[in-house]
Amino acid sequence: MRTPFVAGNWKMNKTIAEARALVSEMAPELQEIRGVEKVLCPPFTALFAVSSLLIGTDIGLGAQDMYWEEKGAFTGQVSPLMVRELCRYVIIGHSERRAYFGETDASVNRKVAAAQAFDLIPIVCVGETLSEYESGQTAEVVARQVREGLKGLPAEFGSRIVIAYEPVWAIGTGKASSGENANAVVRDIIRPALAELFDPQTAQATRVLYGGSVTAANAAEFFQQPEIDGALVGGASLKAGEFVAIVKAAAG
Ligand code: 13P
Repeated sequence: MRTPFVAGNWKMNKTIAEARALVSEMAPELQEIRGVEKVLCPPFTALFAVSSLLIGTDIGLGAQDMYWEEKGAFTGQVSPLMVRELCRYVIIGHSERRAYFGETDASVNRKVAAAQAFDLIPIVCVGETLSEYESGQTAEVVARQVREGLKGLPAEFGSRIVIAYEPVWAIGTGKASSGENANAVVRDIIRPALAELFDPQTAQATRVLYGGSVTAANAAEFFQQPEIDGALVGGASLKAGEFVAIVKAAAG
């Protein structure tokens, strides 16, 4: 059985004071919800403040990216050692990083390997752009992102990785994929790619989330799909009521 998983990716939003206010508002209600792994991913600058508010709760903390080197002359970067001081999770390969900051399958692969080395759980994002979708390249693109992003890792770690299928055309557009379409991508592309890379058991054990315009109103449509194990939520994770409702929907 795969435990449902819901993470909020705050992206580049919330000052420390705003982050504290949001967490204080949602944490008591999130705490009440059982049977779902819940994770908040604030910006780096708010991680420390949020981590102190989450002590003694069952709510996890994640970073939105990291570099793969442990330390050294890499101005502006944050290392896996530093992330691990505060977090259990780290988002890797988000499409915004691929589109704006030069992230590639090769850099994703190095970061995922660093996550393994530092005992972090990576939330690895994959998904096709609008033009790739329209030209029928979804299968090829998503399979390649999984294969290249996760290659060279042991199967025991494979089943701990969380994958987020986030079609780029659905992110921040208000135009979510249908539950059926997302389910088919996970069933026909992502799990077979995992089976090939690791083995069929690992492919079945790995959590795969959907992301892209998930709201309290449409979350249940995704969570009732047999292959979808939760959500990576952007905009709706910045509103306490919305995010709590999405986590509740995942609890069933
Ligand atoms: P939205 O939920 O705002 O569409 O963002 C999805 C996303 O990119 C989560 O990582």
